[in-house]
Amino acid sequence: MGEIRNVALIGAGVIGAGWAARLVLNGIDVTLHDPDPEAERKAEEVRKNALRAWRKLTLAPLDHLGRITFSRDLEAAVENADLIQESAPERLDLKRDLLARASRACRPDVVIASSTSGLLPSRLQAEMPHPERFVVGHPFNPVYLLPLVEVCGGQQTSEETKQRAADFYRSIGMHPLVLGKEIDGFVADRLLEALWREALHLVNDGIATTDQIDQAIAYGPGLRWSFMGTFLIYRLAGGEAGMRHFMAQFGPTLKLPWSRLEAPELTDGLIETIVAQSDVQAKGRSIRELERLRDDCLVAVLQALRTQDYAAGAVLKAYEEKLYNRGHPLVMAEGDDLGRPLRLHEARVVPEWVDYNGHMSESRYLQVFGDSSDALSRYVGIDADYHAAGMTYYTVETHIMHLREVAAEEPLHVTTQVLGCDAKRLHVFHALYRTRDEARLATAEQMLLHVDRRAGRACPARPDVLARVRRIAEAHAALPKPEHAGRRVGERRS
Ligand SMILES: NC(=O)c1ccc[n+]([C@@H]2O[C@H](COP(=O)([O-])OP(=O)(O)OC[C@H]3O[C@@H](n4cnc5c(N)ncnc54)[C@H](O)[C@@H]3O)[C@@H](O)[C@H]2O)c1
Repeated sequence: MGEIRNVALIGAGVIGAGWAARLVLNGIDVTLHDPDPEAERKAEEVRKNALRAWRKLTLAPLDHLGRITFSRDLEAAVENADLIQESAPERLDLKRDLLARASRACRPDVVIASSTSGLLPSRLQAEMPHPERFVVGHPFNPVYLLPLVEVCGGQQTSEETKQRAADFYRSIGMHPLVLGKEIDGFVADRLLEALWREALHLVNDGIATTDQIDQAIAYGPGLRWSFMGTFLIYRLAGGEAGMRHFMAQFGPTLKLPWSRLEAPELTDGLIETIVAQSDVQAKGRSIRELERLRDDCLVAVLQALRTQDYAAGAVLKAYEEKLYNRGHPLVMAEGDDLGRPLRLHEARVVPEWVDYNGHMSESRYLQVFGDSSDALSRYVGIDADYHAAGMTYYTVETHIMHLREVAAEEPLHVTTQVLGCDAKRLHVFHALYRTRDEARLATAEQMLLHVDRRAGRACPARPDVLARVRRIAEAHAALPKPEHAGRRVGERRS
């Protein structure tokens, strides 16, 4: 599949706007088609919330953001698209019509996906020319934070389409779950629906309020579901004897009438009760406020899981690695000019980096210099495979000189001079500049140590990496020693 640079989104409600946000954060341009005159405003609010959440989620560079444009005309929206994602209301006739129109107006090889929560792909693709490139890509709200996307083909969908869709979703930080068979509701919504039916019964029968039901999930099962799901958790509930014992112990309760398969009738009374109880739970907070609370909690969970390199945390970790590589694409090539300090890292002072003085806060200087050392690592050939083998450079010492303040939105760049090296150590000097006028803002001298993370000790860098480091060090040895190099805190210069 060629590179996906433009995605057309049909429908820009909760899900379409969430897709738009995830895509632009990945540097992909988006064209939104939605008849709602308010869609543009709503999508912009979701984009802002998403950017806010991502800046908390990751320090990985997100400098190049995609653009969002609107098109009132469906055919115009899709004609130049590299991929189409439909997120219109959940109505078979409407979706079928939109998908057929889109597939007539776009290139014949473009993957067309639907966000449907449960409609069968075979029905959705029925009126499309080239139905083999249609697939369901069912995401979860908020699309910009939750990695899961169920990928499900219909009778006419090709295997290649499923793989292309899955590869694309993976490339934007998601976890595609490719289903072998189509079924109404797919997997996740079937499970959610079962829980939802029981919850409605509990409210309808006056047994629990909406808030009590939410507590019953959030304080217990919901926490463990966020990383292990149902089966692995129940295996543990079986104690040392594991799953077989669990099945034997709790199997009989399945025969008791604990839960019901039929949903209760959605009477006006039940709807009123649920809406009123839900209003009490919301405590006057707006949807956007609650979304920010939800996002902050999700960010905290994802970051915690990242430390364990497990479940959604493993997806985030692998994705961040990709972001760093994308942010620092340069790897040393023959003919590179090593006769001056390297310019490997660029950044922008994003609003979140600014403190109460209106200037970039102190910790962000260290972040920018850390990113510059990462860029140098990448330049000398350290990539995802190298990290996966447990090898990396750690920063063991840093001395920062703050020379000038810098305001929000300023583009920055860093130059890096190698002051020395041996098989394990890499001594570097970074200088941070305001790109607009080349004003020097700060310098950082750092000692990096090559480590084997698994063994927990320093070790020599791989020979090809070391050769590149030495080439730079030899070339940079001819450069003048930078002003402030070797300086210690409080030391007066003579
Ligand atoms: N909300 C969720 O949690 C969720 C999760 C996963 C999947 N989905 C699925 O995503 C799809 C969209 O759901 P949603 O929650 O975003 O709904 P929504 O009501 O928030 O958004 C639907 C959008 O489609 C627009 N629309 C209406 N007619 C249209 C047309 N002819 N052409 C283009 N756009 C049109 C509406 O103006 C609206 O902005 C549904 O298929 C739903 O099942 C929803």
